[in-house]
Amino acid sequence: MQGTWWREAVVYQVYVPSFADSDGDGMGDLRGITGRLGHLAGLGVDALWLTPFFPSPWADGGYDVSDYRGVDPRHGTLDDFRDLLASAHDHGLKVIIDIVPNHCSDRHPWFTEALASAPGSAARNRFHFLDGSGPGGEEPPADWQSKFGGGAWERTPDGQWYMHIFAAEQPDLNWENPEVAADFERTLRFWLDLGVDGFRVDVAHGLRKDLEPPLRDTRGNDAAPLNSPPQGDDHPFWDRDEVHEIYRSWRKILDAYEPPRIAVAEAGVSAARLPLYTRPDELHQAFNFFHLRCPWDARSFREVVDTSLDGARSVGTLPTWVLSNHDVVRHATRYALPEGTDLTGWLATDGREPAPDHGLGRRRARAAALLTLALPGTAYLYQGEELGLPEVADLPAGALRDPMWERTGHELKGRDGCRVPLPWQREGSSYGFGPSGSWLPQPEGWGSHSAEAQSGQAGSFLELYRTALRLRRGFRGSGSLQWLDAEDGELAFRRGESLECRINLGDRPLPLPEGARTLLTSDEGGTGGGMLEPDTAVWLEPAPSRG
Ligand code: NOJ
Repeated sequence: MQGTWWREAVVYQVYVPSFADSDGDGMGDLRGITGRLGHLAGLGVDALWLTPFFPSPWADGGYDVSDYRGVDPRHGTLDDFRDLLASAHDHGLKVIIDIVPNHCSDRHPWFTEALASAPGSAARNRFHFLDGSGPGGEEPPADWQSKFGGGAWERTPDGQWYMHIFAAEQPDLNWENPEVAADFERTLRFWLDLGVDGFRVDVAHGLRKDLEPPLRDTRGNDAAPLNSPPQGDDHPFWDRDEVHEIYRSWRKILDAYEPPRIAVAEAGVSAARLPLYTRPDELHQAFNFFHLRCPWDARSFREVVDTSLDGARSVGTLPTWVLSNHDVVRHATRYALPEGTDLTGWLATDGREPAPDHGLGRRRARAAALLTLALPGTAYLYQGEELGLPEVADLPAGALRDPMWERTGHELKGRDGCRVPLPWQREGSSYGFGPSGSWLPQPEGWGSHSAEAQSGQAGSFLELYRTALRLRRGFRGSGSLQWLDAEDGELAFRRGESLECRINLGDRPLPLPEGARTLLTSDEGGTGGGMLEPDTAVWLEPAPSRG
């Protein structure tokens, strides 16, 4: 089990700035996390994934790293990290950290040096600096678009342009330069030697680019929302075959540790190509954003589950399941929105704001949790989903920190609404997040969602997750799933002999099978009358005679 703990684990994503603040600066920190490990162990997760806590000017919430082998003072010190790691391990929790190899900060010493150096210099060759097109090179080298809005090229005072898939403060690194590859290997070893259990690889599908002149225009096939794939297989900077060489070399490093360490890819690629990232000599897992993006519909979920299982099986592994993360509208709100609403950046105040039905979102989020946690493979939970937190959609414009807000000319508010610091207590200046305020404003009444308010309350979100994670320990490990006959709008499957999961995605109550004992229901009203209400799920102990 030691070497394969990740195959059917529950990994909890800690968004470091918003989890817990120990020193009262309003910003989450490593000591804050250490102080709350009891919550995570009590919840029953196996591992934490910590989002970036490295020195960063914070042009993109820490995903603009200026020193890959340090800790940003706003989040603590390296000793705080050592303490957190030791304490997590004492609690039986593994720790995965983020690595951001596609780009660094524009304040990273390499980029400062590149700007101060001449075109064609070795310092510039660590990035993608090119001459522009058109008369005088005044136009960017190609029409490539940034994921955060606007173009993907920024002009420097000497007239050259550099590439940035994200904000201009996040210049893309040149992975054809061996110095870049060698430096990241050093970074991996630095954290592995400290004892981390693995890495989450940011933008794993973006590292290699086709910059052979003449550059190909993408004609808009790069502006898709985060976590979703571009169209077609031959894109100049997304999902190029050459990225796999990098992961083959990383795998050797991870395997050289005892027990072997792991890595999970964040790769917004097609379902057909996602398994390539998890071939036996590459990374161990890849986030399954198809599950996250699946419409509330039985047929679509079944298709996603089958495709994910088949894809993973083709490379000898199991899939992952993700409902939320720090880049998308929280699913308790997403499921409350009309179909087709943009999931990445909440729309700005231009009259197009959708009106969520929070009761519906809440019911569906509870049902989705039981579906997700019953599936074979690893579930990645996003902090606060165990509290049923909704998106904070009405953050004032002045509070917004996501670069998407400015780069889209205030068309998209961006991702701050899912990043609002956690409520731990009913009352208090930041509802227990820390001793004073919080870097993003928490809404009034946020404490009603707190862990304190829900703990021990039968039927609360928190107790639903706690029970589900405890029961899951009893049936995980078999890997297999058998679909059962189901009504229209219903999904039903078994995990071995010990669990039957049923979820009603339709609009009429459905009869539950006779003789099966209910282990857990997502229905806040219970399963009275032997019926499965719309937008609810149950875990049943199958009756022995049924097959
Ligand atoms: C994906 C991360 O999850 C997101 O938060 C970040 O903005 C981009 N990668 C760029 O690093």
